[in-house]
Amino acid sequence: MGGTTPGFIRALAADVTLCMFTGNTLITGASGGIGSGVARRLAARGTRLFLTGRDAGRLEAVRSECGPEAVAAAADLTASGEAARVVGAAWEALGGFEVVIHCAGVGLLKPSAQTSDADFVRVMNTNARATFLVAQQACTLMAERKQGLFLTLPGVLGKAPMRGAAAYAASKYAVTGMLKCMGLEYGRLGVRFSLLFLGGVDTPFWEGIGTGIDRSKLLAPGTVADLILAALDAPLPAVVAEIVAQPESHQLL
Ligand SMILES: NC(=O)c1ccc[n+]([C@@H]2O[C@H](COP(=O)([O-])OP(=O)(O)OC[C@H]3O[C@@H](n4cnc5c(N)ncnc54)[C@H](OP(=O)(O)O)[C@@H]3O)[C@@H](O)[C@H]2O)c1
Repeated sequence: MGGTTPGFIRALAADVTLCMFTGNTLITGASGGIGSGVARRLAARGTRLFLTGRDAGRLEAVRSECGPEAVAAAADLTASGEAARVVGAAWEALGGFEVVIHCAGVGLLKPSAQTSDADFVRVMNTNARATFLVAQQACTLMAERKQGLFLTLPGVLGKAPMRGAAAYAASKYAVTGMLKCMGLEYGRLGVRFSLLFLGGVDTPFWEGIGTGIDRSKLLAPGTVADLILAALDAPLPAVVAEIVAQPESHQLL
């Protein structure tokens, strides 16, 4: 070790800006694998959280892990008026939020010939329409304060095709397209967008999908929480517009 090495490290350290986001945050899909994982991590930082999901029991279990400051309200975001109501309730309860982490979504992997009309409507309604309604309300509110970040997870099927994923990919490509358009509208008003194009993550999402996938090879929810926090922690004026991360054994191009 030469005498200059410590000085070099000190110089580098002096040039590094470490930022840790702790602002008010709305998390949808907080009763699920990715949403609950990032909720716990943000709660540990002292972030004030508003959590929403459909299953009131599981949502309350996550809320109680996040401490007495966390607020939760169950809602089905596809039900008429519910997305606007719950986003408005979060804004009021927190006195405004700087970040929305929109994790609500459903999976469906079926060959197109076996995908029913009802399957298609359910997936589009949850993944595309509810995302639009949440983003529309949240971005309007954040734009009033000229700051905010809307982060969501189109997944890699929001930018790459996969056999047996026609309906799901339709819903996720829709998310990518609509949020890139909204980014052009709201970017001028101080609202940033982060899209995470993740491959498979080991969460309850895979229960009932019936693909027989080896979940031990998927990304861990903790890894995904790290990626989300990296996007949140990027110091202004940086925007982490996209992150692509896939398990080594299951990569789509
Ligand atoms: N896991 C993956 O491999 C993966 C990969 C890429 C992208 N993604 C995307 O990441 C997001 C989160 O996935 P995850 O792995 O955390 O899935 P998950 O564990 O199944 O959680 C999904 C969450 O969405 C909520 N939700 C579903 N339908 C809803 C509705 N109509 N209204 C309100 N909330 C609703 C669920 O609520 P309840 O459970 O309370 O009903 C749950 O909290 C999804 O958009 C998914 O498409 C997942």
